[in-house]
Amino acid sequence: MKLDTARRELLLERARTAREYAYAPYSGFRVGAAVLTADGRIFGGANIENASLGATVCAERVAIWQAVAAGQRRLVALAVLADTPTPVAPCGLCRQVLQEFAEPDCQVVLANLQGQFQVVPFDQLLPLAFTWPQGKKWEEGKKDGG
Ligand code: THU
Repeated sequence: MKLDTARRELLLERARTAREYAYAPYSGFRVGAAVLTADGRIFGGANIENASLGATVCAERVAIWQAVAAGQRRLVALAVLADTPTPVAPCGLCRQVLQEFAEPDCQVVLANLQGQFQVVPFDQLLPLAFTWPQGKKWEEGKKDGG
């Protein structure tokens, strides 16, 4: 599954739609995200804030968890979009969560509502990522459902 132009546009459209459901009464900053899985499915997510603030979850993690909860653990691309002057980038926590499920060559699309975007290979967004066991992906967990 490659992120060609058509899939990139689809992914951005889903991120834009997902953003409509953002629950961001505290910050007012609404974010949408979408992930493309190895079998070609797309899952969207929006940020969901909480009165505790600390329990807030970013749009990217909601999208990733939607995919994983549907049995899709192989993520080939993620798009994130907000109403920002330049394309928005995922936070560090979301990069680490994406690391868990990112396929080799996973691409991240940073975007804004004005239609600007930038495609960045995921390994450039999280160099020297922490993995457990060190230096490996948790391949067995991916394979056996554990
Ligand atoms: N947020 C995201 O959804 N994704 C990011 O990558 C950065 C931050 C959300 C969390 C919170 O609801 C709001 O944006 C302000 O930080």
